[in-house]
Amino acid sequence: MRILVTGGAGFIGSNFVRRTLDSRPDASVTVLDAMTYAANPANLTGLDPARFALLKEDIRAADLVDELVAESDLVVHFAAESHNDNSLRDPFAFVRTNVEGTVTLVEAAARHGVRFHHISTDEVFGDLDLDDPARFTPETPYSPSSPYSASKAASDHFVRAYVRSAGLEATISNCSNNYGPRQHPEKFIPRQITTLLEGGTPRLYGAGDNVRDWIHVDDHNDAVWTIIERGEIGRTYLIGADGERSNRAVVGDLLEIFGRGRDDFVHVTDRPGHDRRYAIDASSTLALGWEPRYTDFRSGLEQTVGWYRANPGWWRETRASAEEKYAITEEVIG
Ligand SMILES: NC(=O)c1ccc[n+]([C@@H]2O[C@H](COP(=O)([O-])OP(=O)(O)OC[C@H]3O[C@@H](n4cnc5c(N)ncnc54)[C@H](O)[C@@H]3O)[C@@H](O)[C@H]2O)c1
Repeated sequence: MRILVTGGAGFIGSNFVRRTLDSRPDASVTVLDAMTYAANPANLTGLDPARFALLKEDIRAADLVDELVAESDLVVHFAAESHNDNSLRDPFAFVRTNVEGTVTLVEAAARHGVRFHHISTDEVFGDLDLDDPARFTPETPYSPSSPYSASKAASDHFVRAYVRSAGLEATISNCSNNYGPRQHPEKFIPRQITTLLEGGTPRLYGAGDNVRDWIHVDDHNDAVWTIIERGEIGRTYLIGADGERSNRAVVGDLLEIFGRGRDDFVHVTDRPGHDRRYAIDASSTLALGWEPRYTDFRSGLEQTVGWYRANPGWWRETRASAEEKYAITEEVIG
């Protein structure tokens, strides 16, 4: 099986590539990745060149995309601008990659009749109240709150439109917040871990009440394979692992893992429009026979801390540049 993976040098895409090559001896993978600041070449080292190739190019390069899609059996589309804070500063980069890039890919996949799986986020649904018992389902109306989630919502709509009007054979998955090895230190959990590894003090947006529904990246990608193999064309599947935690609780757990007091953090100015709570009802994917394996969040977190501790060369430089960006907007408030 020849698989084209877009964004395969990033956090979730590289995990997908590694898991796929490890578990499927019949698979060969071509990664198409523009190698933006979010990519790390180290994510893809040590892979068998007979079954793996990396092409450094933009997903909007229509001629190349057409060629690559034509020679593939499956396209799995991870490539995206993925950081909410960046989308507040430069929304057009999100429109170019997340919307225009996705349309370039679905055009080619529809033209060549190639199976397509689109990776999306639960952030397209907006947020829930902290005391609302509801969870997101595939029927929840879209209500994105940031340029990032708006661009992902638009990309989902384009995939659906191509299923309906161009016969694209696609499935879509909307997943909750991922954690695990190789996540860029600009993101919440690796930012706190690398700060603690440097002996610093974690920084929490606002009051820290915001709730995220965490899932380990291995579980996300196992669910993606389940959907590719058993999902129904045209359907949307939600992926989550019942991992609801407030940001304050996550920071508290990390502080404890490092032998520090749970309240040893500072509050910084909140992100504008910061979503309050995400929560996934994953029954659409569970019904296909997938089950998350990291059901104990604390042990998944300990494994992740262990990876960052063992790989300082992977994150030192990228952490420094991410912190430079945060220093421009962030102010300690308590
Ligand atoms: N991180 C999460 O918690 C989460 C949760 C749900 C869904 N998702 C979705 O999963 C996907 C992957 O997220 P991630 O966290 O691994 O992101 P990431 O930022 O770590 O990786 C994105 C990758 O896409 C590449 N890329 C960006 N623009 C490109 C372009 N124009 N052409 C080609 N490649 C380009 C980057 O170089 C990078 O390697 C995204 O679609 C994201 O919306 C992420």
